[in-house]
Amino acid sequence: MKIIALSPEHEPVFCACLEDWSEEIKEAGDHKANWLKRMRERGLRVKLALDDKGTIGGMIQYVPIEESFVDGRGLYFIHCIWVHGHKKGRGNFQKRGMGKALLAAAEEDARELGAKGMAAWGMALPFFMRASWFKKHGYKKADSVGMQVLLWKPFADDAEPPRWIRDKKKPGLEPGKVAVTALVNGWCPGMNMAFERAKRAASEFGDKVAFRAVDTFDRTAFKEWGEPDAIFVDGKGIRMGPPPTYAKIQKTIAKRVKKLG
Ligand SMILES: CC(C)(COP(=O)(O)OP(=O)(O)OC[C@H]1O[C@@H](n2cnc3c(N)ncnc32)[C@H](O)[C@@H]1OP(=O)(O)O)[C@@H](O)C(=O)NCCC(=O)NCCS
Repeated sequence: MKIIALSPEHEPVFCACLEDWSEEIKEAGDHKANWLKRMRERGLRVKLALDDKGTIGGMIQYVPIEESFVDGRGLYFIHCIWVHGHKKGRGNFQKRGMGKALLAAAEEDARELGAKGMAAWGMALPFFMRASWFKKHGYKKADSVGMQVLLWKPFADDAEPPRWIRDKKKPGLEPGKVAVTALVNGWCPGMNMAFERAKRAASEFGDKVAFRAVDTFDRTAFKEWGEPDAIFVDGKGIRMGPPPTYAKIQKTIAKRVKKLG
């Protein structure tokens, strides 16, 4: 196995979360490719894990924490670590040490870049990205909101722990219409997919729905809203993890449209 930095030939596969076999991922559009171009200028780092045949099995992406979705200073923040675990496509690469190697490589890189530590997020429950996996690798809980845990590993004595952003904005209503507001940052194909579905579902209802897209890649917009990705229907957020289906978003909007009379 080998860990490499992201090179141009691997960009399409990285932007598809290594799920280039999936039809669903195509719904995510080109948000991640655009994000990649723009985020590089803000210090994005990506590493890939290749097996002995040169097949990519895993990826990790991390950014200076000041460019992330959490509060912090002087750390790098891991948005995402993913070792392909589906049988389909390239196959299951989990439990071969790729995750461990990717995390170690990212930490070493962050240290070389002068970071005071590494931060990551995970779920308190045993699904999706587990907080317990990071704990096994020396990370400690810094903060939590509901099931979402923010973890960190300081490298320096004067490192400051990261914090979740709690101050989040909710959109207002639109008189005589259903207001659909969708926030999109680009970092995650699953979230990009949800955004595209919301846009498509909203358009089905013509002028009964006022659709508003917010690009949270823009730091001012992100700071105003306090989160990278969200879908609100008349001010109420739709659960985002896992990405809501088109049918779920469409049904939520339809219910509100019906109430318009
Ligand atoms: C968490 C994750 C990154 C770990 O990656 P991984 O490559 O499977 O991790 P590792 O191989 O380093 O370690 C996992 C286990 O495999 C074991 N293992 C490692 N090498 C092994 C080998 N050669 N043979 C057998 N077992 C091995 C490890 O000991 C470890 O076991 P443990 O959990 O009981 O301690 C991966 O499971 C994953 O991507 N999960 C989903 C995360 C997700 O949803 N990400 C998206 C967030 S946006």
